[in-house]
Amino acid sequence: MILQQLMLYITMKLVIFLCLVATIKGAAVSKEENCEIISINGINYERETLKTNLDRPYSLAVDYGTNMLYFSYSLKPTDDVFQSVKINLYTKEYSEIEGIENGFVQTVDQINHIPYIGSSKGIYKYDYTKNKAIPFIAFDSDIWEIYYRNNVLYYSDFPAQFLYTITNGERIRFKDLDEMKIIHFLIDDNNVMFYTNATGLYSQPKDSKDAYLYKELENGDKVRGLTIDIKGHVYACFEDGIYKINTGTGLLEHILEIDDAFGVAFDNNNNIVYSDATSVYHLKPNKDKNCSR
Ligand SMILES: *[C@@H]1O[C@H](CO)[C@@H](O)[C@H](O)[C@H]1NC(C)=O
Repeated sequence: MILQQLMLYITMKLVIFLCLVATIKGAAVSKEENCEIISINGINYERETLKTNLDRPYSLAVDYGTNMLYFSYSLKPTDDVFQSVKINLYTKEYSEIEGIENGFVQTVDQINHIPYIGSSKGIYKYDYTKNKAIPFIAFDSDIWEIYYRNNVLYYSDFPAQFLYTITNGERIRFKDLDEMKIIHFLIDDNNVMFYTNATGLYSQPKDSKDAYLYKELENGDKVRGLTIDIKGHVYACFEDGIYKINTGTGLLEHILEIDDAFGVAFDNNNNIVYSDATSVYHLKPNKDKNCSR
């Protein structure tokens, strides 16, 4: 898999990052011993570090049934080699996912509690009984993006970056966004698609061509992922933090500033899990502003 643009950009950012101490700017942060309090929309959260010393943890997804977080990270600084891993959000137990090589992108069928992982050689399903990933479909494809909603698995391949759907094992090109290179994609419960391409971040009702531009982008830069919370609100992870996509106002709201953010997801209590260039964090509500540890 050659993610040239992304890699060049990431390499530059990594050099800059090494000169900096990761800090959360903007959002109110107070530091007490090992924990930090972060305030978002007037609610205080305690930041728990789940894992450090990872290279660009990416494509975060949580299975609400097990509260298991899935993501990947880079195994080599310059080559595109990735490893899918998981963290139990109850116990913080971390483990590599067996049965798959070069796992890159993760999504979860929240109804049947099946995590899917896209790799350079197709799509795998995570099997909880066997404790490993099982080959599923599209073995001829280098998977770039993946998303599961309402019995449909959406994915794009590399380098074409065209979107496909898999429904009951049948794979077809996704006609709504035909001939378009998609970087990030999701679809919500109202059948509204949210996606980024080289020129912007858009929403678009399914079966329509009515794209709404939320933010113009240059070469699709700066967006590292899209996610949805358990209430159906959509969020974008930009390199400078997490933005809520406000479909009422048509604007993006910067809810959390992060230095070099790489991914965001929500757990089964609708708390934020996010990553920066080296680490993965969990935000938990903290009423009294005192750290529990
Ligand atoms: C990105 O999507 C918008 C809206 O669908 C479209 O008008 C634009 O041409 C697309 N850009 C690229 C580079 O495909």
